[in-house]
Parts: sequence; structure tokens; C-alpha cells
Amino acid sequence: MRILVAGATGVIGHPLVGALRARGHEVSALVRQESRERAPEADHVVVADALDREAVLSAVSAARPEVIVHQMSALRLLGDDPVAAFALTARLRTEGTANLIEAARAAGARRLVAQSIAFAAAPASVPVVDEDAPLYVDAPDPGWAATVRAVAELERLVLDSGPLAGVVLRYGTLYGPGTMYARTGGAAQAVLAGQLPLPGDGAGIMSFLHVEDAVGATVAAVESDAIGVFHVTYDDPAPAAQWLPHYAQVLAGPSPRTIPAELAPRMLGWYLTHQLTAAHGASNDRARTTLGWKPLRPSWRDGLGQE
Ligand SMILES: NC(=O)c1ccc[n+]([C@@H]2O[C@H](COP(=O)([O-])OP(=O)(O)OC[C@H]3O[C@@H](n4cnc5c(N)ncnc54)[C@H](OP(=O)(O)O)[C@@H]3O)[C@@H](O)[C@H]2O)c1
Repeated sequence: MRILVAGATGVIGHPLVGALRARGHEVSALVRQESRERAPEADHVVVADALDREAVLSAVSAARPEVIVHQMSALRLLGDDPVAAFALTARLRTEGTANLIEAARAAGARRLVAQSIAFAAAPASVPVVDEDAPLYVDAPDPGWAATVRAVAELERLVLDSGPLAGVVLRYGTLYGPGTMYARTGGAAQAVLAGQLPLPGDGAGIMSFLHVEDAVGATVAAVESDAIGVFHVTYDDPAPAAQWLPHYAQVLAGPSPRTIPAELAPRMLGWYLTHQLTAAHGASNDRARTTLGWKPLRPSWRDGLGQE
């Protein structure tokens, strides 16, 4: 198939281009002008900024893809400028997605697979939720509410993108090379510096995913005829009280100290406190049964903190 990967220089996008080519597909990498030298080896490279509608229209029409994969975010800026990272990512999820869909329709593409997140669920009565659980669009933190609204808008656009068949892949918290949880990433640095304590009973649940399994699930979604929303996560969502001490141990960092839950928002901010004390895990049953995807790794215990 002819496939266009938007976000082809990214943590998932870069290895995805190679994985799709290894499956015999003809792959175009969509990159920004300033990132050209970081483009992966692809059959074709087309250049556009996703927020420039005309440039996207002409890049996608040149690639004539049957399938488009949207892996664009500005989260790489998180360490330097979190406000800009979230604001730009929200624009990529809304305007960028709309531009890509318009261009995909004009170029006659038939399928769109887009990146979303598996950790945006609203409070629920069960610890692990499925894809039908509501998103936390009314979170009390304005920043997180804005992020979740942009995620919800991306998902709405993709699912309503007829005649394109739309697929939303809600990846779990990524670990592995290039991610925040890599040994060189921001989360590892915080743990090593003793700056990531465990608030209260650490009951917030995380669903992890190694980058290579994100790539594998994306290949499965490209090649499948299934449509809809899929959690792409490991089988064993884990509370912070389990994964955080394990992560610190693998990193050979200090054991995370426990702090009273009520102090956490002031020390860690609303979002991190929520993730560590109240977040829900995301079940992967639908991706396993409908996409036929099976993770390569059995669990986040395989590799978290090791690379
Ligand atoms: N994905 C998530 O939901 C999430 C959540 C929390 C944390 N993180 C962390 O964030 C890091 C990045 O993960 P990621 O895969 O989302 O992002 P990424 O690896 O930074 O990839 C994003 C891709 O989007 C492209 N892009 C950005 N702005 C663009 C624009 N205006 N037009 C066209 N393309 C554009 C980037 O290209 P350029 O090379 O040109 O910039 C890059 O190819 C990881 O450390 C991950 O752990 C991710």
C-alpha cells in the first residue's frame, strides 16, 4: 500500500516508517522543512507544516497515499516550554488533523490512523476502563481540561472523517528510546534526583506501552479494515505504588519517599498528582480482538527504566 506518515521524525513515527517498509509498503514521510535532515529513510519525503493548510494539501496530493498515519505532536518541547508544548500539540490535534483530513479526502485516501492517549479518562467507578468511558473534558485543572478537549476533538474529527475510514489509537504511557521514561528522559531524571515522590497510597493507575509495541499496533491498524477507537496498552495496568518503586530500582535511584496526598498538588501540580493518586488504567481487549494485535512484551516490567 502507499502510506503517508505525518510526524515521521517522531518517537513512534521514525521507527514506524521502517516497520511499514519492512512489510513491503511504499512509504512517504511528511516532515517540516527544518526537520528534513532528521527524516527517516523512506521511499519519498514530502514537506509541510501541518498548520499550513495549503502546504499540507500539496504534500499529501504529491504522495497520493491510500492510508495516512497521524503521529504529530509538539510534546518534545515539554522539557523546555511546557505551555508551548501543550498549546501547539492542541493545535496539531485540532487544526492539524482537520488539514490532514481535508488533504486526505482531496487526494483520494481511504484510511486514516491517528495517535491519541489512553490516560485521559474521567473519574470512573472501576479501576480500568474501556474505550467507551467518557474523557475528562471537565477536569478541574484548566490545562489538562484543554488538552483532553483537544484530544476529544481529534477523535471526533477522525471518526467523522468519511469517506475515510477513521482509526484512533490511544497509546498508553510510552517508554523506551526517546520517551520521557527513557533513562535520559525527564521522568527518569526526576526519579534519580528524588523529585518524584509517592503521594498517599499511590493508587493512580498507569497503563504503559513500549515504543516498539506502539509501532506494532500501528502497523496492525494500517493493515486492518477495522475502524473506531482502540486502547493500545499492556495487559497489566499498575498503580503508582507498584511501578514507581520498581522504576526507581531499575534506574538505581533512591526509593521514592511517600508524602501526604494533600501536599502533592502543591509539590507536583494537579496533573501529576492526579496520575499518581486517581488515574484509571485502560484495557486493551478491543485492540487484541478487533485489530488482532498482540504486544511483543508481556508487561511494563519488561524494559521500563532499562533503556
Ligand atoms: N504522545 C503522547 O501523548 C505523549 C504524552 C506525554 C508525553 N509524551 C512524551 O513526548 C515525547 C514525544 O512523543 P510523541 O511521539 O508524541 O512526539 P514526537 O516524538 O516529538 O513526534 C512528534 C512528531 O510531530 C512532528 N511535528 C511537530 N510539529 C509539527 C508540525 N507543525 N507540522 C508537522 N509535523 C510536526 C514532529 O516533527 P519535528 O521533528 O519537525 O518536530 C515529530 O515528527 C515522548 O518523550 C513521550 O514520552 C508523549
